[in-house]
Amino acid sequence: MQDNPFDLSGRVAIVTGAARGIGLSTATVLAQAGAVVVLTDLASEAFDRVESGLGKQGLSFEFAVLDVADQQAVDLLVADVARRHGRLDIMVNNAAVIDDSTPLTVTEAELDRVHAVNFKGVVFGSQAAARVMVAAGSGSIINVTSGVVDVATPTVTGYSTSKAAAAQYSRGLAMEVAASGVRVNTIAPGWTDTPMNERHVLREDGTIDAERKAAYVAMRAASAPMGIAGDPIDQAHAVLYLASDAARFVTGMVLRANGGATMPW
Ligand SMILES: NC(=O)c1ccc[n+]([C@@H]2O[C@H](COP(=O)([O-])OP(=O)(O)OC[C@H]3O[C@@H](n4cnc5c(N)ncnc54)[C@H](O)[C@@H]3O)[C@@H](O)[C@H]2O)c1
Repeated sequence: MQDNPFDLSGRVAIVTGAARGIGLSTATVLAQAGAVVVLTDLASEAFDRVESGLGKQGLSFEFAVLDVADQQAVDLLVADVARRHGRLDIMVNNAAVIDDSTPLTVTEAELDRVHAVNFKGVVFGSQAAARVMVAAGSGSIINVTSGVVDVATPTVTGYSTSKAAAAQYSRGLAMEVAASGVRVNTIAPGWTDTPMNERHVLREDGTIDAERKAAYVAMRAASAPMGIAGDPIDQAHAVLYLASDAARFVTGMVLRANGGATMPW
């Protein structure tokens, strides 16, 4: 084994939904560990904000526009990255959307919208990556689910059911490819301060109400036994572990960086 099992030099990674939040932090941490990282997201404009930050750090990265719900596009992107770089070592299926619907009122349209990204997007990304990795005899797939897979969450029904499906899919895939040297794990983040959660603190004109946001973050922090809210870097470090040789004996697991929110798991 290498001296530093967290060193990703020479590795190639793809992160979906990487223009902001947990995806951006994860892509940055993987690149800081030495990987060449392909950041993908829905629109190229989203990357304008982050390009100079990554560039200043001298990191190796590329951007690609990708809708993870489009299977053909996912297949093409993954195959292209593997062909150009000669390998694909790490696939982080992070992109997701959320709803605010209840079990009794969730509509078919809402289920379709959310599951297309959060569940099918994970399946498409995992399959495309596994095709390359199984042939190579190594690789790490990390699917981002959520703490909602462990607890009843009747306020985000499309989201929680899509995440539970993604978690179960990941276990099955982990079993199917285990003997080929490919590892498949999920992270189930606790509440993390990202743009996804700012929908609760917006003014009518769409801008963030800083006072309401501070109160909301404090409320979410208090709901975890450790009394702190998550930062995207907490999830990025969990992904780094699973992506690296430090986790070479770890597959089929759900890693819960969540301040103890879903103990006793
Ligand atoms: N923030 C939290 O509290 C929290 C908790 C548990 C799990 N998570 C999970 O962590 C991951 C990242 O969440 P976040 O909070 O950073 O969210 P975010 O909304 O801040 O970022 C999500 C990114 O995904 C992109 N995206 C959305 N649909 C896409 C699609 N079809 N194709 C490609 N990209 C798409 C968005 O453009 C955005 O850049 C998600 O899987 C989310 O479910 C977040």
